[in-house]
Amino acid sequence: MGSPGVGGPVFFCPMSEIRPINWTGSSLQLLDQMLLPHEQATVNITDYRNAAAAITEMRVRGAPAIGVTAAYAMVLAAAELQSRERDHFIGALRQAGAHVAAARPTAVNLGWAVRRMLRVAEAEPDPGSILPRLEAEARRIQEEDESINRRIGEHGRGLMPSDGQGVLTHCNTGALATSAFGTALGVIRAGWEAGGRFNVYNTETRPWLQGARLTSWEFQQLGIPATLIADSAAGVLMRQGDVSCVITGADRVAANGDTANKIGTYTLAVLAQENGIPFYIAAPTSTVDLAIAHGDDIAIEERPQHEVTGYGGTPVAPEGTPAYNPAFDVTPHRYIAGIVTETMVCRPPYTESLRQAVDAA
Ligand code: MRU
Repeated sequence: MGSPGVGGPVFFCPMSEIRPINWTGSSLQLLDQMLLPHEQATVNITDYRNAAAAITEMRVRGAPAIGVTAAYAMVLAAAELQSRERDHFIGALRQAGAHVAAARPTAVNLGWAVRRMLRVAEAEPDPGSILPRLEAEARRIQEEDESINRRIGEHGRGLMPSDGQGVLTHCNTGALATSAFGTALGVIRAGWEAGGRFNVYNTETRPWLQGARLTSWEFQQLGIPATLIADSAAGVLMRQGDVSCVITGADRVAANGDTANKIGTYTLAVLAQENGIPFYIAAPTSTVDLAIAHGDDIAIEERPQHEVTGYGGTPVAPEGTPAYNPAFDVTPHRYIAGIVTETMVCRPPYTESLRQAVDAA
């Protein structure tokens, strides 16, 4: 197979940056990712419980975007629960934080952002100053995320293949999954911005089609030609020699490098090794969980069966068909050639390099 299904020259011409999370000063506006690409609608959220529900329902998804949303959810909680009695206020915030952190179990960024916000509240002696401090911290988390992603792109772009060769990515790891720019998709973008003209393939990513709906849309917005494949076409594409590297994001990276990411990532990593192709992860150090020694201890979210037996409310399988629907899998570190963070590209042994990357952040 030759270059992706595009005709004529393609000019790199990114349109305005996609920013899926917008804080108005009193409410949280999320670009509803369940409706994209055919509808571009915003959900306006003024209650932290609804922010948690938007995470569970995947209106906002992707580990860093979930973290930023959780930070603003804590601002909404503080606005609702504020009280002159400091201990009472902090106690209520902790409870709200537990509610938000339980929205989805696998992405470490969720609990990380809630804990970071609670630390700010706990360090503030004046209860009247907690809300403005939390708002400033949430804004900081959002701004930091964009600059971290751009640095991931700078570190990772040298790993992209030569012109005419191919890179394969999975799920959606772009601006939509973050506050802007993206992680693995950001590395691909950085490679294109640096003048690389390699071929890009992205999987559809069943069951929610984050690849077909979101990644294909983002690449279109960026003017980067990308060819969509069914998840099950990855093996043949690699065997034909069309893929020179694979890069995906992560929801949680254990201290030894084992990585939880969208279901199907493990399959791609094993296929890549079988075909002698390097498999990379791109993730911020906030996704590295040094408290977890290895991937067996990462909690994997199991989602409703109807997401597999049908799509978008339309049943596909015969009624009563049982389905197994883990949202993520764990790729053992031995399949991973490198983990690109904002501070460095980590190489095995990951127990050392990940610690170094986190310390440098
Ligand atoms: O279920 P999702 O869509 O939230 O899963 C997202 C992924 O697995 C991403 O690859 C990961 O969160 C990294 S996003 C930069």
